[in-house]
Order: sequence, then structure tokens, then C-alpha cells
Amino acid sequence: MTSITLPAYAKLNLTLDILRKREDGYHDLQMVMQTVSLQDDVTVTLTGGEGIACRCGEIPGDETNLAVKAARAFFAETGVVPCGLDIDIVKRIPAQAGMAGGSSDAAATLRALRRLMKPDLLGDELERIAAMVGSDVPYCVRGGTALAEGRGERLTTLRDAPKLHAVLCKPDFAISTPLLFSRVKISELWNRPDTAGMLDAIHHGDVEGVMARVKNVFETVLPKDYEEVFDIKERFLRLGAEATAMTGSGPTVFGLYRDAGAAQMAYKSLSADYAQTFLTQFV
Ligand code: C5P
Repeated sequence: MTSITLPAYAKLNLTLDILRKREDGYHDLQMVMQTVSLQDDVTVTLTGGEGIACRCGEIPGDETNLAVKAARAFFAETGVVPCGLDIDIVKRIPAQAGMAGGSSDAAATLRALRRLMKPDLLGDELERIAAMVGSDVPYCVRGGTALAEGRGERLTTLRDAPKLHAVLCKPDFAISTPLLFSRVKISELWNRPDTAGMLDAIHHGDVEGVMARVKNVFETVLPKDYEEVFDIKERFLRLGAEATAMTGSGPTVFGLYRDAGAAQMAYKSLSADYAQTFLTQFV
């Protein structure tokens, strides 16, 4: 086998809490993560030549691309002799959206390289390499419903969350993740998520409990320029969403629905105003 295509799913934060600032400049987080059916397709091919070529839609496929960084880290950390690679990414997940699109492409690249070149590599080891590429990459390697702690790399797989419909709506601006973190003063954070309650609700398959606890503390430090996020949340509520929040460091907002028809209606309404609106399901 010289080529493999794997899905790279987008993620949502059902909760996102910031616990403390660390000595290394990162923050200790607590996040309940969920993969959704919006996906990129990542094809990795062993070319038999040299060097890494990467095509990634409108995003540069150079050394700054997380998929290329992932391939370099894979060779450096596993001892597998580097060989020529072609990484072809069909992009559907918007970049800089809070949906871990780049991290998910990197994770799919790592999983593809394991399958093609080192099938006996343990999952833990692959996630350790993933953490060197970016904070969200280990979670993207694992997928499903999971608690992510530390920088995001300490993972606990949870019982699958109830299968909900998620409508995603990305306004037409980007929010810098480091900028948002720089606005956080831990002692002044308010309206934080009830992570323990969310874990309990997921454990018991309690859909209402899950819906009631969807929350992202980053919303409380959003600069004024980004208030459209709150307009979209209000719109989701008017469109019958049982829960709505920003995902990650934004700006994408999601609305959750039990009913497929209601999700479809919300999708129709929002996509008339926002080109980057997606109708998805939990995966
Ligand atoms: O790890 P990654 O490169 O994805 O992180 C991007 C930036 O987000 C970091 O440089 C840091 O400023 C911030 N960050 C943080 N705490 C985390 C994850 C990211 O402060 N747990």
C-alpha cells in the first residue's frame, strides 16, 4: 500500500474552561470535545522520491502547514527513514474558525503515516508526537467525545455524547487565539462551564443535562469588535436551538438540535446570510 485517504473531522467544544496560566506561557484548560461530520479528506501518498509536497486548498502547503509539520515530527520521533510524501487535502473545514481544521489535517496525516509506515506504533506514542505539533492535535488523533486537559493533550475518552445535530455558522472574520488568551485574567473569569456536571450528563446519556451545560468561557473575554458572535447565538435561540456557544477561540458559533428538521430549518435560515454555514451531526 502506498496511498491512503482518511477523514479529518472538525471539532466542537461542548465546554471550554481556562484553569490557570502556566510558567511556559500556555494555559491549563478543561474542555469537553466532540467531533462532527464536517470533514476534510487527507490523502497521503508515498512517492518513492524525496521531500514533502502538500496541497491544501487556499492554505499554503509549505513548512508552516500543520500537516507538513506532523509528517516531519513523525519521521523525527519514530526513527522511520524519511521518504518522499505527497499530502493532498480536500479542504472543507474553514481555517481559523475554532474547529481545529488544521489540527485535524495534521492528525489525519499522522494516522495515515502510521498505517503506511509503522502499523505497530502505539496510540499513546502517536498522541505524544501529535502534542508536539499543536495543542489540539492529540484530541484530533483520538476523536469522538473526550475530556481534554492540560494544554489540551491530556485526554480521557468519554462515553459517546448523545447523537445530536449541530449547525455551525462562521462569521466573516478571524479571531487570533493568542490575542484571546492574552485577554484572560483568571481571577476575573466569570460564567464558567460546569465541567463536572457536563461529564455526569454525558455519562448518564442525559440530553437535557448536556444541552444545559454547553458553555465557552472565551465568550466572556471577546473584544467588542466580535459581538456578531452574540447576534448569531441569539439567532440560534430564536431558531429553536437547545444549546448554542462559540467553539474554541472562535469565531464559529454552533447550535445543537435533537430534531433533524429543526436543524435543517436553522441551516437554511443562517446560510442565507452566512456563506460558511454547515449542517452536521456528532461523529
Ligand atoms: O499549541 P498551539 O500552537 O495550537 O497554540 C497556539 C497558541 O495558543 C499558543 O501559542 C498560546 O498562545 C495559546 N495557547 C495557550 N494555552 C493552551 C493552548 C494554546 O495559551 N492550552
